[in-house]
Amino acid sequence: MLTYKRDHYCGLLTRENAGQEVHLSGWVQRTRDVGGVVFVWMRDREGIVQLVFEESVCGKEIFEMGRSLRAEYVLTAVGEVRMRAENAVNKDLKTGEIEVFVKDATLLNKSETPPIYIDDKAEENELVRLKYRYLDLRRTKLQNNLRVRSQIVSTIRSYMDGMGFYEIETPILTKSTPEGARDFLVPSRLHHGTFYALPQSPQIYKQLLMLSGFDKYYQVARCFRDEDSRADRQPEFTQLDIEMSFIEPNDIQTVVEGAFAAVFKKVKNIDIALPLPRMTWRYAMENYGSDKPDTRFEMKIKDFTEKAASCGFPLFENCVQEGGQVRGINAKGLGAMTRKEIDSYAEFVKTYRAKGLPYVIINADGTAKSSFNKFLTPELVEAVKEVFAAEPGDIIFFASDKKAVVLQSLGALRCEIAKRHGLIDPDKYNLFWVTEFPLLEYDEEEQRFVAMHHPFTSWMEEDAENIQKDPGNVRAKAYDLVMNGIEMGSGSIRIHNADVQAQMFDLIGITKEEAQHRFGFLLDAFKYGTPPHGGFAFGIDRLTMILTASESLRDVIAFPKASNAACLMMATPADVKQEQLDALDIAIVETEEE
Ligand code: AMO
Repeated sequence: MLTYKRDHYCGLLTRENAGQEVHLSGWVQRTRDVGGVVFVWMRDREGIVQLVFEESVCGKEIFEMGRSLRAEYVLTAVGEVRMRAENAVNKDLKTGEIEVFVKDATLLNKSETPPIYIDDKAEENELVRLKYRYLDLRRTKLQNNLRVRSQIVSTIRSYMDGMGFYEIETPILTKSTPEGARDFLVPSRLHHGTFYALPQSPQIYKQLLMLSGFDKYYQVARCFRDEDSRADRQPEFTQLDIEMSFIEPNDIQTVVEGAFAAVFKKVKNIDIALPLPRMTWRYAMENYGSDKPDTRFEMKIKDFTEKAASCGFPLFENCVQEGGQVRGINAKGLGAMTRKEIDSYAEFVKTYRAKGLPYVIINADGTAKSSFNKFLTPELVEAVKEVFAAEPGDIIFFASDKKAVVLQSLGALRCEIAKRHGLIDPDKYNLFWVTEFPLLEYDEEEQRFVAMHHPFTSWMEEDAENIQKDPGNVRAKAYDLVMNGIEMGSGSIRIHNADVQAQMFDLIGITKEEAQHRFGFLLDAFKYGTPPHGGFAFGIDRLTMILTASESLRDVIAFPKASNAACLMMATPADVKQEQLDALDIAIVETEEE
């Protein structure tokens, strides 16, 4: 009877171990019985190795036990590492050059047939995988993802520590913070009829810590937002949250860049060139139609409005006359795409409220054809060639509408075309800052300005004179870090004066009474010597997702929520006992839909 104290991990064995006796413990991945020999793939958190059960080596009893093994049985085994014969090397397996000839083994536990096949290549229904998450997590890919995540967090912690930051925890039971999402609420038992909110971020606390003099704060912070899930959004997620006093945007950006560089070096052994490039928000919007552009491929948006004003194509001319814009993108060399594909793009841009997708294709002989041939004059073709640097074989897609619709639809279209035509190099990491975000954006539904980042963000001094007369055009001291078309994080220099903060609340339609009710403590605090300060937060889940080439945040969080915000494994949210509700004075009211 063997103990289960192993001395090696299966997945870390290499040819260097050949000739050694090793003790391994783990799970059976699969078995193959070829008569006199049983091959067993054994798995632990580091990977898989092949065990060989041969009666002449391990004796009859162990050999028979080897034959009885099934997937997910727990096993401990001692054996000799041997090089495989040249023709038996398995290139798909990290340990494929060697195998372990078992001398002794003990079956530690059996397993029922698992409801999912535990293999990276198996195509299992995601809902079933989430239900049996504890088994799904046994997959090598997920084990690797969580290992990388742990590496990222520990690298960041030691980097921040080295930079003189204190890690300070802030409350989870707190008050609503305006980060733009709905709050998760927790009813209070002791204070009848009142609620805590789970933090959408530690924003206000970290600002108060600056006021308290901590100067350099960070936290690996859990955040909670009751918003619709997407591939890059979970209702609970983790930020690296930072705040510093007496700094300019560049200071905080330097710290954040350094953290990213340390992580890339540790996880990918990639040296990132610092400082990272900067791009203004306006440039990003005008050229990529997005404030988080994917710059791994070109296909920039070009403005055709001036030429379109008198180009002879009524759709374009009318649009310009009505104050709209005409812009386009050149899908270089893709002019031979099928009509069906073009139609699918026209359908695609409808999601972004574009009403059509006119296009021009430049023929091999330099002439052109288009979706509006009747109006395609030689002058118009020349204008297209000039604005889009169009050459034979290119197809240019246009959007003509209000500026916002034009930019959004072309921005999304360039990504869609690039994705479908494999124009994106998956090994490229384009990391850069987007700066000078607008302070406010107009919410048509609510008929008022809302803070684009959050209402604690200060405005650029250069634009201060416009704060009352043209608030929509005031730029904020706010910056986002973007990688491969994904917002990694954002931050800003904060308002640190009570009167200015009150003015900001006023601009976004929060009345004095409401401001006092919700943020009175902050306005009060600001009166007691608040230092100038600013900060940043980035999503650790999102960074891990990119660095592990995962499709969804679900692949980098141990126990994620499904797209409907439920945990299928524990079946949460769940009902609670009547006594618990009674203690909180809560009654559940059945709605008609139910
Ligand atoms: P913001 O709201 O932009 O800023 O969030 C910062 C970063 O957190 C990540 N993130 C998310 N990740 C997963 N799921 C979500 N639902 C989710 N929401 C946000 C993103 C995002 O860029 N307090 C400010 C920061 C500051 O000003 O210092 C804040 O939270 O990567």
